[in-house]
Parts: sequence; C-alpha cells; structure tokens
Amino acid sequence: MLESERAVASQEVSESVLDYLARQSELDVLRFITCGSVDDGKSTLIGRLLYDSKLIFEDQLKALEFDSRKFGTQGREIDLALLVDGLAAEREQGITIDVAYRYFATEGRKFIVADTPGHEQYTRNMATGASTASLAVILVDARNGVVTQTRRHSCICALLGIRHVLLAVNKMDAVAWDRAAFEAIEEQYAAFAAEIGLANVYSVPLSALKGDNVLARSSHMPWYEGPTLLSHLEQIDTATDSVEMPFRLPVQWVNRPDSTFRGYAGTIASGRVGVGESIAVLPGGRTAKVERIVAGVDEHDDAIAGEAVTITLDREIDVSRGDVIAAAVARPESSDQVQATVIWMSENHLLPGRSYLLKTTNRIVGASVTEIKGRIDVHTLQRDAAKVLELNEIGICNLSLDAQVAFDAYGENRTTGSFVLIDRVSHETVAAGMIDFGLRRAQNIHWQAVDVDKTVRAQQKQQTPRILWFTGLSGSGKSTIANALERELLAAGRHTYLLDGDNVRHGLNRDLGFTDADRVENIRRVGEVAKLMLDAGLIVLVSFISPFRAEREMVRKMVGEGEFVEIFVDTPLDVCEARDPKGLYGRARAGEIKNFTGLDSPYEAPEDAELTLDTTTLSAEAAARRVLGFLDD
Ligand code: ADX
Repeated sequence: MLESERAVASQEVSESVLDYLARQSELDVLRFITCGSVDDGKSTLIGRLLYDSKLIFEDQLKALEFDSRKFGTQGREIDLALLVDGLAAEREQGITIDVAYRYFATEGRKFIVADTPGHEQYTRNMATGASTASLAVILVDARNGVVTQTRRHSCICALLGIRHVLLAVNKMDAVAWDRAAFEAIEEQYAAFAAEIGLANVYSVPLSALKGDNVLARSSHMPWYEGPTLLSHLEQIDTATDSVEMPFRLPVQWVNRPDSTFRGYAGTIASGRVGVGESIAVLPGGRTAKVERIVAGVDEHDDAIAGEAVTITLDREIDVSRGDVIAAAVARPESSDQVQATVIWMSENHLLPGRSYLLKTTNRIVGASVTEIKGRIDVHTLQRDAAKVLELNEIGICNLSLDAQVAFDAYGENRTTGSFVLIDRVSHETVAAGMIDFGLRRAQNIHWQAVDVDKTVRAQQKQQTPRILWFTGLSGSGKSTIANALERELLAAGRHTYLLDGDNVRHGLNRDLGFTDADRVENIRRVGEVAKLMLDAGLIVLVSFISPFRAEREMVRKMVGEGEFVEIFVDTPLDVCEARDPKGLYGRARAGEIKNFTGLDSPYEAPEDAELTLDTTTLSAEAAARRVLGFLDD
C-alpha cells in the first residue's frame, strides 16, 4: 500500500471509530437483572450475550479458550459459563457478595446487567440489583418449569417495581425443542405473574448453550415466531418512564461561591424543568420560579431526568441539602411518619423502637420502626404476622422519623420513594426500604407551643437540668450509687428524680421482658420519660442496665449538647456475679433465667462515657462524690 493510501485508510478507520463512538453514546441504556441459578444456565446465558455481542476482550477470550480446555464441561467447545463464574468463585471465597454489573452493547442499545446469586441467602443482593433495573430476565429450566425459586425471584422483582419481565425458558435442547413443553411453562408463569401484579411478560424458548434464540433465531424451533431474547432486550420500551414523571431535584448541595450567586445542585431524579417554571421546595412548601439552569459551564433553557445541574431561583428562600425541589403543580408528599416495605439486610435482626439513620436521596434523619405490620412471603407476596425481621426477610413497617422528609410513593417514583436504613453504631446498611405512603396521623398532630419552657423551669429551680445515665451490668452498683448521689443532691437543695430499672418495670414497663426487642423498647420509653423530666427542669438519675450502645446514643441525641451524662459503672462480671445481690446470677447459671445480661445476652460497654466508675475499689459514696465532682466542673 502506498503511503497516501495508507493515510486514507487510517483516516477511514478513525472516522468509522468516531462514528461508532458517537452512535454508541446516543444509544439509550437498558438496565436489567438476570434471575436464576447456575443450574438454570444463567452464567451461560450472560456469557453468550457477552461473547456473541463481541464484547469480550482479546485477553479474556484467550483465557477463556484455555480455561475451557482445562476446566470446561463442553468438550472442545468454549464453556461460556466460565466467563461469568470467575466472579462467582470470588463470591464463594467471600471477597464480594455484592452485585456484579456487566456492560455490553449492540448496534441498537447499551446494556447494564446486574448479575446476582440466586439462592435465598442472597435475597438482599438480588433486591439491590433489582432496585435499579427496569427489566428482569427470569430463567427457568425447560425440564423443570416454574419452581419455588422462580416465584421468589419474580416476587422480589415485583416488589422492587420492575415492570417488564422476559421469561427465558432455557435448555429447550434438553426437551427436544418441544413446543408443548414451552407453552405449558408460559401459561403456568403467566397465571402466576398476573397474581403478583407483573403485567408485561414475554416468554422466549431458547438454548443458551447452543445459542438458539439468544442472538440468532433458532432453526430447531420454527414454531416460535416471536423475537429472540436480544431483540426483545433491544426493543422493549422502558425509557419513557423517568422523563415523563413530575420534576424532582433532590438538593445535594447549596452552591454559594459569593454573595451574588446562590445555586442548588443535584441530579434530576425525574421529569424536566425549564427556566421560568414554578417550583416548590419540600418539605416546607415555599415556592419560587427557576431563574437559571447551569450544567458545568453551560447555561440551559431546560434539563431532564439524569442530568446533573445547578439551578437558581428568582427569590431568596431557605433551601438546604436534602430538600427536594419539585414542580409546584405536582409536589411530593412530606411527612415524619410513613408506611414502607422494608428488606432486612443485616445479620442482626430489626428491632422495633431502635433508632437507625434513614437516608433518602440526599437526606439523613433518625428513624425507628414503630410497628411491624406483617412479613411478606416472598413466594406468594402474602402477608403473615411477625415480631422481628431477620436477614433477607421483607416486612411492611410503620416508621417514625425525627424530621419531616419529602418523598413520593415508591410505586410512583423509585428514586424519591426509596431509602436505606443505617446502623448508628456500626454504620452498616441494615435495610432497604420502599415508601408505600405517608401516615395520615402525622398530618393531624401538631406541636403545641407553650409559654413556660425548660429554661424558665430551670431558672425557677436554680439548677442546670441534666440526665445522669448510669449503665452497667446487673449488680454493678448503679442503683446504689444513684441512690447515694440523689441524697447528696437533695441535701444540696437540688430538684431530682431517680428512674430505676427494677421500679419502672413494675409500672410503665410492666409489659416488657428481657428479649433484645423488649430492652430496646424499655430504653426508648425511659429515654422519653427522662427527656420530659429534663424539660421539667429536673436532674434526672437513670439507673438501667441499658445494654445497647444504639439506644444510649439515641437518648443522647434526643436532648441538647451536654445534657446527657453517660456514667459507666464498670464493675467486672465476676465481681457482679460474686455479689449476686438478688440471687439472679445463680438462677441464670442454673438455667432458670434466660437472656441474662453478661451471660447469654450481650452488654455493649460505652466507648465515650463521660465518667467511668469501678466499684471493685470504690465505695458507693465515693463514686457518688466523683459524679458530684464532675458536675461541679
Ligand atoms: S435493661 O437491660 O432493659 O436495661 P433493666 O435495667 O430495665 O434492664 O432491668 C434489669 C433488672 O432486671 C436487673 O437488675 C435484674 O434485677 C432484673 N432482671 C431480671 N431478669 C433479667 C435478665 N434476664 N437480664 C438482666 N436483668 C434481669
């Protein structure tokens, strides 16, 4: 080839590459999830999509050919499952139990596949993958048809708002490409899908192993006239959704470089917005008009879902991070009490009454489950009764939030309708939630303003109200110290009240036992009572084992800075047990008392207590004086 010819050729190449890239970037993206197990041929199917659409890199291909000869189950042919299962092996070693996302593209579309393990113990992973997918490919083995696992996967997809399902009836080669077998499965699944509210279901008979009806049409099944799996994936219209919904911009940060500019930045969750349009800021409901829309360095007249923008308003109103800017004519709800469907993702079960952090799009607030209204059977979507939620269980719960939050029902908007719950102490994500609706009772109860407040009451008593929270094992000396301290305070003219675990359990908390759930509720209630007494201007002494960090932290956050004083009565277990003032350790050791703190129920020691006292060496009176000394400082 001449020099000049070569130059022309390379020019052509680069142009076609640029063309190609340009076309690619305009393609819309379909996010889907594959549900099924390795036995159903899931890995082979994903492998085939990647392999046939030529989205495997040279080196991966070489490795695959090599591995297939060495480990494959397909003789001299390439074993596509090996391509995908590399990650599965990693998962088994515990390196990752997250969702694997794979990317591939065809001439028609770009795809992101969420690949999650199929077994029940991975429900939380599947839910994570499903939460961003708009379509599910549900695999069944043509020899087995719809099985329990198929039902579970379908229910989870339905719960997570997936509207489109492709039922991939795999291994048709193993049933001699039999039309009747396929149609029986198709019918069986359609009936089930209708029951659980999955509307748009298409079925495709295929063989992932042989490639029939995956990318290319099968010559073995001339009776099937519908599209192949890939054509379905390319053609299904799921894109309309988010742009046509009402405008929502969860504010990620307030951009205020100088006094002349005040913009609100975030990614548009749904809908579109234009300059001059009326918006409302939720919760709160203040309104304004959009003045400018800025994306990067460019100014725009409008913007749509998925775009990251900064908008400015025509008047100064109070907007903070976590607020939602919405179309004034179609606003989200605001509430501090909601009903939600909650997928529990933690090894530690859900404890009603425990305060978690609830994170919506951009907002974090404290929240607790006030009631578990039922647990959902993931094979039928029926509800049964439940007191707790365990790992991978799904429940309908009422939640109470520490502040008003703007949201939509998940059914209407998957972005502004979802949240996660985070453990306050470990920072682990313990649940994913989908808001069903705001609870009306929250709208009917308002805060009543009163004239005499804590400050006035405290002045009258000439003291600084405080909660002195004693925590420690049974028999550690909490109550004895608290008792001695209260006498001293009284003698000094202070106004006090002592809340003691044993005593409160005779009245207000008579209905509670010693399960984790009951202890959480025990502390929640006594925390609220202590807060009321603090408000009354008292110095409140609280003597409860209060074994969990989360609940002590919750009470600390309920009151003002410095008002909660945590006093850890750090007497070792063997000393407490030797004292055994009420004979309870003896009975617990004999198996007569279950869930005894320090024995078969945990005690989580404070990490940042204001004061630590060890009564092994300290008398109750001396310990009380230490507390007084701390208060005087
Ligand atoms: S807490 O764990 O929920 O904070 P609380 O302080 O109210 O406990 O009550 C603890 C008292 O209940 C103990 O001092 C002991 O007298 C009595 N008790 C009875 N059963 C148990 C048990 N299983 N574990 C701990 N304390 C128990």
